[in-house]
Amino acid sequence: MAIWSSAPRMFAAICFVTFWAQSSGLDYVRPPPRPILYTSHNGSEAHPQQIHISVAGKDHMRISWVTEDKSVPSLVEYRRSARRKYEASATGEHTSYRFFFYTSGKIHHVKIGPLLPNTVYYYRCGGIDIGEEELSFKTPPDTFPVELVVAGDLGQTEWTASTLAHIQKIGDYDLLLLPGDLSYADNQQPLWDTFGRMVSPLSRSRPWMVTEGNHEIEKALIPIIAPPAFTSYNARWLMPFRESGSTSNLYYSFQLDAGAHIIMLASYADFDKNSAQYRWLQNDLDNVDRSKTPWLIVLIHAPWYNTNLAHQGEGESMRKAMEELLYRARVDIVFAGHVHAYERFTRVYDNEPNHCAPVHITIGDGGNREGLAMLYKTPPSPLSLFREASFGHGRLKLVNQTHAHWTWHRNNDHNSVVGDEVWLESLGEQGACKDLDDKLVGSVIFEAREEL
Ligand SMILES: [Fe+2]
Repeated sequence: MAIWSSAPRMFAAICFVTFWAQSSGLDYVRPPPRPILYTSHNGSEAHPQQIHISVAGKDHMRISWVTEDKSVPSLVEYRRSARRKYEASATGEHTSYRFFFYTSGKIHHVKIGPLLPNTVYYYRCGGIDIGEEELSFKTPPDTFPVELVVAGDLGQTEWTASTLAHIQKIGDYDLLLLPGDLSYADNQQPLWDTFGRMVSPLSRSRPWMVTEGNHEIEKALIPIIAPPAFTSYNARWLMPFRESGSTSNLYYSFQLDAGAHIIMLASYADFDKNSAQYRWLQNDLDNVDRSKTPWLIVLIHAPWYNTNLAHQGEGESMRKAMEELLYRARVDIVFAGHVHAYERFTRVYDNEPNHCAPVHITIGDGGNREGLAMLYKTPPSPLSLFREASFGHGRLKLVNQTHAHWTWHRNNDHNSVVGDEVWLESLGEQGACKDLDDKLVGSVIFEAREEL
């Protein structure tokens, strides 16, 4: 294989072969980082590029894209059938930003709807077709099952390409969740453009719902003249914060009509009890009707539970501030990124097993340029049920009101292998944990791991 050909990579290979035995003990040789891929734009300046869609309130979607030509209108035309004439259109907002010597293209955000559930829509942006194949996306269904893909710390390397290929290859899904660290641009603004182009074949076809990680902060070294933190992220990845009553694009929530409420929290905004984020979360949780919403899912970036040596304790102050809110609301699952590895915990509250508390899953293994976090604390914590430093992605199939099936898919070079799976029972009103004081009622009903 080409990855073994150079001396630095051979050194990296020796390192990870040395470390693998210390990580999870599984008989799988972990791969080193791979090079960044720079995805170019081959169309005209007016051609829409970096297209992604996102849920934008009930029955609505937001279409976001970039044009180098500033005269292109923020217009989306769309229709349900394959007829030539578009049935509907909407105009929206646009923005751009400067980052030292870099000036972004025109960033368009157009909200369209009302839309029907589980329906394919054909569309075009700015009045311009981008190729022979018409753009299309599918709205999430309003009945179960619903299939969610979870991929964190993506970056834009050859491993990212592998993860994206596996996401498409394994099968259809309804919506992608990204718990932070998108482009790894880290102040190099053109990398936001190349990232947007790389993910666009997926992000223009299904909603991509993201929250920010530390790599989105982009605090420059010269604070007086530097753009504010999150300038690029907020301009490009506008999420439905207004639609969910939040005052910040860094934290928001959205509802899936089938019966799931998904909350994106900000690890890098204030979260103490006097903060706007805390008050918003409290109000958002109070308004979730678990009789109609059996699944309650939260995403953060820095994990609250983590037995990897990387980023130890970074989520601890947020856990102390907010964990009780999630526990009282009977949140089913908390996904995190940041640590470049996969780890699944038992249901846990305040560092103790608790059958009425969320399952915590770290999935920061999308494929970024920094490589894997291969060293773990020893001895293993009994709270940690599965941990492995490999690239991959996860899929959460909400099968019905009471049961969901989680699988973690390891990128085994060109193949995707199921490395971990578990059946989960909802903690909603029809689920297993109606009384918070009843700690004996089970919720994780089946666990299996592949024997490698
Ligand atoms: Fe991170």
